[in-house]
Amino acid sequence: MSLSKQLIHWYLQNKRELPWRKTKDPYRVWLSEIMLQQTRVVQGLPYFLKFTEAFPTVFDLAKAEESEVLKLWQGLGYYSRARNLHFTAKYVAEELGGIFPKSYKELLQLKGVGDYTASAIASICYDEPVAVVDGNVYRVLSRYFGIATPINSTKGIKEFKELAQTVIDASQPGVYNQAIMDFGALHCKPQNPLCSECPIANSCVALVKNSTKELPVKEKKIKIKKRYFNYLVPVTNDNQTVLEERTGKGIWQGLYQFPLLEAKNEIDENELIQHEQFIKLFPEETTISLFNKEEIIHKLSHQHLVTKFWVVKTTNVSENTMSWSKVKEQPVPVLIDKFLEEYLNEDS
Ligand code: ADE
Repeated sequence: MSLSKQLIHWYLQNKRELPWRKTKDPYRVWLSEIMLQQTRVVQGLPYFLKFTEAFPTVFDLAKAEESEVLKLWQGLGYYSRARNLHFTAKYVAEELGGIFPKSYKELLQLKGVGDYTASAIASICYDEPVAVVDGNVYRVLSRYFGIATPINSTKGIKEFKELAQTVIDASQPGVYNQAIMDFGALHCKPQNPLCSECPIANSCVALVKNSTKELPVKEKKIKIKKRYFNYLVPVTNDNQTVLEERTGKGIWQGLYQFPLLEAKNEIDENELIQHEQFIKLFPEETTISLFNKEEIIHKLSHQHLVTKFWVVKTTNVSENTMSWSKVKEQPVPVLIDKFLEEYLNEDS
C-alpha cells in the first residue's frame, strides 16, 4: 500500500473530531488554519468556537471592530495574525462578495495566507492536490525517508515541499493532508514516537538507522548583531591623516583602519564631539562633515556594521599622522578601501 493510503487508513481510525472537519466552508477552514499556525489544536479549539459563535460568517467578522477581534484573540499570541485575519475578512466581504478564492494560487494573494494556509484551504475545500507542509509533516517525512536536510533552510523547504507533493493522494488531497498532520501530531511525535506500534514502521528509514531522535534537523539560525561604527578620518592642515592597526581578537585583526569610535546606537555629530575618544584624539578645534550621506551597512556573516565616516578637519591630532600615499599602501578592510577610493577620487 502506498504511504498516503497507509496514512489515510490510520487517520480514519484515529483522527481527532474537530469542528472545522465537519465542513468544507472556506471561511471556517481558513479561520481554523490561521488559528492553528504556531498553535496546538487543543489550544486553538476554544478560540475557534468563540470566533464562530461571535462571527458566524465572513460578513460578521468583516463588520466587527478591530478591538473586538483582538479581544477575542487575546491569549493566542502572534497578534499580526488577528489583524491580517480581520483585513482579509473585510477584503473578502467587501471586494469578493463574501466568496473566498477557489485555487491555491489565488488564495496565496490574501493577506496572512502563505503557502501552508493556501494549500490547506485549497485541498480541504476544493480538492486541489497541493501538499501542506507544517511542522508535523516535516517530522513524518524526514523520518520516514531519512532526510537530514535542515527543514528551516531554503534547500530543505523546497525539498520537503516537492517530496510532500509526490506523496499526496491526488484523489483525496484534503483527507491526506490532514492525515499526515494528525499522524505527526499524535503518532510520529517529536518525543517518544510510537514506533513499536507504527503502521509504516516497515519502510521507515529513521527506524532502521536508529535516527528517529535526530530527525528532523533544524539549522541553528545565527543571530545577526548590529554594530555602529564611526570612523574618524582626521585631515590635518598639511593633509595628513591617521591610520592605526586593529588589534585584539575580533574581526580584521592586523588590518589598518581610521580611529574607530564604536557606539551602542547610531549617533549624530553632537554626540560624536562629546565623546571622550573624540575629545582625546582632537584636542584642537575641528570641522566635521559626514562623508557618506547614506548609511553604509557592511554585512559580515554574524554582524552588520552600520558605518559612518566622519571627516574631521583640524590643526592637530594626538596620534601619529600619515600621508595618503602611505595610507594606500596599508592593508585595510574592504569597508575602508571603498571609502578611500571614493574619498581620494573625489579630492583629485
Ligand atoms: N494543524 C493545523 N491544521 C490542521 C489540520 N487541518 N489538521 C491537523 N492538524 C492541523
